[in-house]
Amino acid sequence: MNKERKLIIAGNWKMNKTVAEALALVNSLKLELAKVKEVDIVVCPPFTALESVSKAILESKNIRLGAQNMSENNFGAFTGEICAGMLKEFSVRYVILGHSERRQYQKESNELIARKAKAVHGASLKPIVCVGETLAEREAGQMEKVLETQVRGSLAGLTKEQTVETIIAYEPVWAIGTGKTATTQQAQEAHAFIRRLLVKLFDEAAAKKVRIQYGGSVKPNNAKELMSQPDVDGALVGGASLEARSFADIIKNSI
Ligand code: PGA
Repeated sequence: MNKERKLIIAGNWKMNKTVAEALALVNSLKLELAKVKEVDIVVCPPFTALESVSKAILESKNIRLGAQNMSENNFGAFTGEICAGMLKEFSVRYVILGHSERRQYQKESNELIARKAKAVHGASLKPIVCVGETLAEREAGQMEKVLETQVRGSLAGLTKEQTVETIIAYEPVWAIGTGKTATTQQAQEAHAFIRRLLVKLFDEAAAKKVRIQYGGSVKPNNAKELMSQPDVDGALVGGASLEARSFADIIKNSI
């Protein structure tokens, strides 16, 4: 597939996989995906498996490491938090921020996500900033308003250069873990809306460089069609990233 931006496909393992299970998964992925050059591949294990997975992919040319969250602070009395310096010890390159599960269960606000995004860039890591509307918001015709508030709020304070290095994940909440995928048209519309917003916030050249992932029940059988949309530049995969076969097939089918 000849895309304007390089595809980036990330597996969000969420709160799954012991160290042994994480190693088994990443070792299979290394074999399955050894030849793939066309896609940036990212795996995001839980914090407890970062060190082992990091060692396992040390010599991998195409699999990179991501974390699922990060503190906005660099050190100190923040019980239970993990900072950028700790992630960098394991060669983490990407950090998922503002996933809808954290927005919902940990009550993360756009303001907090923006502070975290700044900290991620401050450490020369790349944030994957998640946005997306609920079903009620979509049905009430609020999708664009919600996306605009989340994108503006979560990227607030980033420079143009930092924004270009930010990955945005459009994840309609009603499609996460439900088996309901947005249609390719719904995904493309939302992605194009986000890109137009980036033009307003910065300029056309910057907006063209930002990679926007789709997330929400991405599977091997729908990946190709989703990735073929002009403004869909990759995927953030939950459930289907927990097995080597399905995650590898999503990547191979997207090329
Ligand atoms: P899902 O999750 O692929 O299981 O729907 C996506 C996500 O939460 O990032």
